[in-house]
Amino acid sequence: MIPDASVQVELADHAATRALGERVARAALPGDVYLLTGDLGSGKTTLVQGMARGLDAVDDVSSPTFVIQNQYRTGRLPLFHIDLYRLERIEAAFLDELEEDLFDGGGMSAVEWPELLPEDLTTGAHWIVLRTCPDGGRTAAVHSAAVRVLNAARATPP
Ligand SMILES: Nc1ncnc2c1ncn2[C@@H]1O[C@H](COP(=O)(O)OP(=O)(O)O)[C@@H](O)[C@H]1O
Ligand SMILES: [Mg+2]
Repeated sequence: MIPDASVQVELADHAATRALGERVARAALPGDVYLLTGDLGSGKTTLVQGMARGLDAVDDVSSPTFVIQNQYRTGRLPLFHIDLYRLERIEAAFLDELEEDLFDGGGMSAVEWPELLPEDLTTGAHWIVLRTCPDGGRTAAVHSAAVRVLNAARATPP
């Protein structure tokens, strides 16, 4: 279930999307799961690039077109980047792997196209809903039950 509490963030350009990912990652705790929803091209991978930067991971985050799962382990926390785009179903073995990353990996996870995840894997997750605006920018709605996440999402801290 998507948490009711949310913060709305205007993202005028690519750099703003990245900066949101950075802020969120700096406040992230081990075991945090971020579910990123939004159309193709709405900025989900850009957010994850920002997250890697916020964790001070040196690797470049790529859009995993054929790879469904990438790990970045050089930062403050391991970052698990999962992209379920075009997947029709999740095999049981892969589900076990995902569960391990998300809950026992000791890092933060970011999942693009999370609609396929079974509900028990999304319990306690934070949601970032991206929308493309007619002017070309984006908006993000960050939904979370954790005040630290909502505060981190704000471009201007409270
Ligand atoms: N706030 C923004 N305003 C305009 N363009 C953006 C913004 N955020 C990201 N982009 C651009 O949108 C394109 C698609 O971004 P990407 O992160 O790959 O989307 P997705 O992973 O959701 O498909 C990239 O060229 C990226 O630079
Ligand atoms: Mg993407």
